[in-house]
Amino acid sequence: MEKSKVLVVGGTGYLGRRIVKASLAQGHETYVMLRPEIGLDIDKLQMLLSFKAQGARLLEASLDDHRSLVAAVKQVDVVVSAMSGVHFRSHNLQLQLKLVDAIKEAGNVKRFLPSEFGMDPARMGHALEPGRVTFDEKMEIRNAIEEANIGHTYISANCFAAYFVPNLCQMRTLLPPKERVNVYGDGNVKGKHIQTYVLLGFTYPSCMITPGFMPLPSNFHLTI
Ligand SMILES: NC(=O)c1ccc[n+]([C@@H]2O[C@H](COP(=O)([O-])OP(=O)(O)OC[C@H]3O[C@@H](n4cnc5c(N)ncnc54)[C@H](OP(=O)(O)O)[C@@H]3O)[C@@H](O)[C@H]2O)c1
Repeated sequence: MEKSKVLVVGGTGYLGRRIVKASLAQGHETYVMLRPEIGLDIDKLQMLLSFKAQGARLLEASLDDHRSLVAAVKQVDVVVSAMSGVHFRSHNLQLQLKLVDAIKEAGNVKRFLPSEFGMDPARMGHALEPGRVTFDEKMEIRNAIEEANIGHTYISANCFAAYFVPNLCQMRTLLPPKERVNVYGDGNVKGKHIQTYVLLGFTYPSCMITPGFMPLPSNFHLTI
């Protein structure tokens, strides 16, 4: 497989740290953004240093410093963003607009994978709050990428098993329900659990990382 120079933004996050490891495991020249804003966050720093020990290169850049972002993306062919976007936790998807601006100005990035990795936002116009903001903002990022004519891959992974299997798809908890299980719709929807288990595959490096780096058409939408 052709090897790429890959920059992971959000590399210490829940998904980002797995993307970094998968990229390293597949032999890609892997760069991880080190933001000065992490300050005294010792957990993040130690994780970044452990990536470095495994062969990653740390690139100092800030989403608040356009010059540093342009300089960072100029060093790579592929940018993968795992920016936070879970409404009940940390939610900063719109910061990726700054990344889009930097990639556009740098002009060398062949493929950008924005932070998607969930339901296809183009099909979620009917979604209710509080989760809806995630889909609206992911669409905003898609529009910015396409307007800037940046080569991209969108990965629609639907629901991660880690988030939806142990709690039997219940909202507001990650633990198994003890007293009551809500069944959505009329209870007759077929195949939901199969779909959930198929998604376990997404946690395996080859499934997760390969689509971004295979010789795909310049713009690509992968639904898992
Ligand atoms: N399908 C599913 O079931 C499912 C479940 C969870 C998440 N997701 C999706 O996966 C993607 C990543 O989510 P996640 O849970 O992995 O995210 P996360 O762990 O909450 O955060 C990821 C990273 O975002 C960066 N970040 C957060 N706030 C920032 C700020 N103010 N300025 C700059 N960077 C900031 C940090 O990067 P640093 O490493 O640089 O500090 C952080 O490590 C999202 O698009 C989310 O919707 C899908």
